[in-house]
Amino acid sequence: MKFFVDTADTEEIRELADTGLLDGVTTNPSLVAKTGRDFIEVVKEICSIVDGPVSAEVAATDYETMLEEGKKLADLADNIAVKVPLTMAGLKTCSQLSKAGTQVNVTLCFSPAQAILAAKAGATYVSPFVGRLDDIGQEGMSLIGDIVQIYSNYPALQTEVLVASIRNPMHIVQAGLMGAEVCTIPPQVLKQLVSHPLTDKGLAAFVADWEKTGQSIL
Ligand code: E4P
Repeated sequence: MKFFVDTADTEEIRELADTGLLDGVTTNPSLVAKTGRDFIEVVKEICSIVDGPVSAEVAATDYETMLEEGKKLADLADNIAVKVPLTMAGLKTCSQLSKAGTQVNVTLCFSPAQAILAAKAGATYVSPFVGRLDDIGQEGMSLIGDIVQIYSNYPALQTEVLVASIRNPMHIVQAGLMGAEVCTIPPQVLKQLVSHPLTDKGLAAFVADWEKTGQSIL
């Protein structure tokens, strides 16, 4: 499973990239707004930190402007994945950009039917938002199961399922059990993944027992 981090904060990205656990980054207009920085400048900086795909989202909602914006974003760096919304205009933009060899992430997916359309439009990634479905009392993870199953019926499909709007470590574990290719994870949830009280307890005991030996490995 690939791990993307879902943030536009370059300090957080640097810190996580240093762990060697990061395969890419996703941003969205809300995450960029949170940084208070210039969008193009932030995206360029993120692309220089990670080798993997960096999703940068178009701002327009009409096809012509979206396509222009997508081309401009794609020219910023080799590892850009242009993010477009799951609308008819977004799918049309996806289709054009994909044919030109640009990676495209189709975002704001909330149904299996929408995911089928994203794949037909040649998306590199489809982003189903599990947390936002949970928030309105629906089973976000069952959407992932449905999409993975549908895509697996058509082995020629190249579109990868990028689980988005992740809120807790169990979303990632379930995504792994279902065979989703990518999870985009908020930094705090990525850090939660490592925590287990028995690991902390076990390590404290090992450290204490090692000290009793009076030895040193180095
Ligand atoms: C995905 O690319 C989105 O940026 C993100 O996962 C949305 O998550 P949220 O529902 O927590 O805003």
